Amino acid sequence: MGSTFVPKITFILPDGDRKDMDVRRGLSVMEIAREADLGIEGTCDGSLACATCHVVIDPAHAGRLKPATDEEEDMLDLAFGLRPTSRLGCQIVMSDELDGLVVTIPEGL
Ligand code: FES
Repeated sequence: MGSTFVPKITFILPDGDRKDMDVRRGLSVMEIAREADLGIEGTCDGSLACATCHVVIDPAHAGRLKPATDEEEDMLDLAFGLRPTSRLGCQIVMSDELDGLVVTIPEGL
């Protein structure tokens, strides 16, 4: 019998709305937000050459992610409105382990 478990993600939009979504494993947070038209551009398609996939991880969840690489940190420095738990959405790939992740989409992307 196959498992029917589907990991979920919650986006908090710039206007404060919450959007709970099922995710397909293996898609990045950027791809999920882009497909759902939540205002994330992902201009470079995940090749760490833009910062238009900037998201802010809920501090309670930040420790669940692998730490950012130096390349991600360098590109994040260019993001507008950086916060302590800011990440690049294209570098966070959804998996069962990340079920329930809460991610804020910053204003002014
Ligand atoms: S999509 Fe360009 S750095 Fe993430």
